[in-house]
Amino acid sequence: MRKATNGDAGFVRFVDVQKSYDGKTHVVKDLNLEIARGEFMTLLGPSGSGKTTCLMMLAGFETLSDGDILLDGASIGATPPQKRNIGMVFQSYALFPHMTIAENIAFPLEARGMGKADIKQRVDRALGMIRLESFGGRLPGQLSGGQQQRVALARALVFEPTLVLMDEPLGALDKQLREEMQYEIMHIQQRLGVTVVYVTHDQSEALTMSNRVAIFNGGRIQQLAAPKQIYEEPVNSFVARFIGENNRLNGKVRDIGGGACLVDVGQGESIRAAAINVSTPGQATTLSIRPERVAIGAAAAGAENCFDATIDEIVFHGDHLRVSATLCAQPGFVIKVPNGADVSIGGPGERIKIGWAARDCRALDQG
Ligand SMILES: Nc1ncnc2c1ncn2[C@@H]1O[C@H](COP(=O)(O)OP(=O)(O)O)[C@@H](O)[C@H]1O
Ligand SMILES: [Mg+2]
Repeated sequence: MRKATNGDAGFVRFVDVQKSYDGKTHVVKDLNLEIARGEFMTLLGPSGSGKTTCLMMLAGFETLSDGDILLDGASIGATPPQKRNIGMVFQSYALFPHMTIAENIAFPLEARGMGKADIKQRVDRALGMIRLESFGGRLPGQLSGGQQQRVALARALVFEPTLVLMDEPLGALDKQLREEMQYEIMHIQQRLGVTVVYVTHDQSEALTMSNRVAIFNGGRIQQLAAPKQIYEEPVNSFVARFIGENNRLNGKVRDIGGGACLVDVGQGESIRAAAINVSTPGQATTLSIRPERVAIGAAAAGAENCFDATIDEIVFHGDHLRVSATLCAQPGFVIKVPNGADVSIGGPGERIKIGWAARDCRALDQG
């Protein structure tokens, strides 16, 4: 797991930023976000949630409708994009097709008027960093997608920017290469200590790579926290649904107090839960429970919430069994049982106990 950085907290600051393209609807709303020096910050959210717009405003390719963005304490409003000293990597590698790999990487250095000898040294070092030492003389078209994306990464880093923005940089790569590249980018970022703002709609990528993740929906940050906290402690139904898998049970709050609540579900059953995003008795709520937090069979006995369920399906997934059951008259409740766990589970139709702790069950807004 990645540690939080302790660089200065407000290296990049979005202050009350609003953005509208048409003067009517806001696609970024009341955005306040601080990014520390050396931090790997990911903006994660569904398509259209405003992630790219935020990155483009930071890069200087889009104007702000209101608010301000500060870089290292100074407003960047008046600084043109090429003067912001920001590296960028996009999903389309955007390499110059008729220039060699070395020429592509040299480009930002030449644009800054650096001398030939310095350029050669820096380009060689950058090629080493992305493990393409012998590829300098080739054209982009002679490289695979993954190699081209590493070149784009080298070109974004070669002039030693303090800040690098990446917008879905691995979106065009297949799954295995994408996972390898996640680690490669992460390790390079750690080694250089550069600040990264990374945009993706892929939750596993965000959880793997980031110091902190900002979850976007409808132009607003829904939650901003370290990956583990985002996963374990979603603050609302949107985040719970968007990150990982969860069981959702609808009900009504009966009692609430001291951070806990009792929720009526189904036909007379009630469930003890942590009161996260509910406040009053009578309120409709959706309970969120991770499948790996649910015990089954003998292990469920004595749990704060323990019910008889009917097994609908059992599927073998190698490292775990995935059991689907009907519980409190609601079908589709999923339990993940680690392979090798000491439980005997029969088959579909079997009645079995399942249970979970109140703290692993979060009462959220009805979503
Ligand atoms: N140049 C533009 N002109 C008008 N609307 C745009 C423009 N760019 C993005 N939008 C709209 O702004 C919203 C947010 O888009 P975007 O920032 O690209 O989201 P994301 O990167 O999260 O998919 C979307 O509704 C999109 O259609
Ligand atoms: Mg986008």
